Amino acid sequence: MTKKIIVTGGTGYIGSHTVVELIKKGYNPVIIDNLSNSKKEVISRIEKICKKKVSFFKIDCTKEKKLKELPIWDDVKGIIHFAAHKSVSESVDFPKKYLSNNIGSLEAILNIMKYYKIENLVFSSSCTVYGNPEKLPVTEKSKIQEPTSPYALTKQKCEEIIIKSSCINNYAILRYFNPIGAHKSSLIGELNLNKPNNLVPLISKSIKEKTKLYVYGDDYNTHDGTCVRDYIHVCDVASAHVKVLEKLFTSNKKKYILNIGLSKGVSVLELIKQFEQANNIKVNYEISNRREGDVEQIYANCKLAEKELKWFPERSIKQALIDAWNWEKNN
Ligand SMILES: NC(=O)c1ccc[n+]([C@@H]2O[C@H](COP(=O)([O-])OP(=O)(O)OC[C@H]3O[C@@H](n4cnc5c(N)ncnc54)[C@H](O)[C@@H]3O)[C@@H](O)[C@H]2O)c1
Repeated sequence: MTKKIIVTGGTGYIGSHTVVELIKKGYNPVIIDNLSNSKKEVISRIEKICKKKVSFFKIDCTKEKKLKELPIWDDVKGIIHFAAHKSVSESVDFPKKYLSNNIGSLEAILNIMKYYKIENLVFSSSCTVYGNPEKLPVTEKSKIQEPTSPYALTKQKCEEIIIKSSCINNYAILRYFNPIGAHKSSLIGELNLNKPNNLVPLISKSIKEKTKLYVYGDDYNTHDGTCVRDYIHVCDVASAHVKVLEKLFTSNKKKYILNIGLSKGVSVLELIKQFEQANNIKVNYEISNRREGDVEQIYANCKLAEKELKWFPERSIKQALIDAWNWEKNN
């Protein structure tokens, strides 16, 4: 029998790519999403890619009672909990919205796991837990710094709750760096229903709308003055989830905290140049002021994920930028 995996936030950006990967590897994913930042159409697109029906329930994960009543909890082997709000800058303006949704949904999921005796949890954390790191690249042992935004605070709190909770024995906390790109079919990708905040969607938007791209600050203490990040293809992020689930099912060690990135620091100006070269297109940009909540530079050491999961990113930044632009052009 195929293993049933509940995927909260499964119509979202990383969630939808993970659902495709789960199906590809023979799992039976069941999606729960309130569509606050995605569309129901994503389901039919996943079905088109996988040539398989996908179960979907439109529910808010903070509503524990409604979750409990869903007819899905028999024989669940694991939960991947993506559902959360994710905009750093929006969280600065609406901290309460972020705290109640991101922490509230995790609490409800943990109670469900206890109630239905579900053993395995994979949680979406973020490199934002490292704040402005003192030393680069960051390893999982790097210090958890003062949160630079309410969003980062929610990820730190959620990690703490999972680690200290008696509701679960087996968990994997994945700290993603900067997922970019889209599925090669261009049927799923990052939707950006609200104002985009991440660099690649901002680049695409500026090209599509023939507007200027604003680079937020060139006076950081980095090699070219712009912020440095670790960009990784979203399909490689997705495959890490399947690898870690398999590990949770089979290994004795049942607690993982892992960095998921490409282990390369790339500046904003370098990424713009790489986007131009990969897609043979000009980006019209201008330097503007720094943006509140942005970390100066961060990139990962992912040796632990490679060692524990035998997971290795397979796609280049160039491929991710080609896939991202194809997705934008076709949608
Ligand atoms: N994309 C990134 O750059 C990035 C980086 C690090 C960590 N993360 C984390 O990864 C996870 C997925 O991110 P994403 O980029 O796919 O975001 P996304 O917004 O595309 O997907 C999140 C999904 O969760 C849903 N959702 C939000 N709150 C919900 C709730 N209370 N109940 C049910 N559904 C809810 C949204 O409708 C959306 O479909 C999030 O937890 C995010 O914080 C993302």
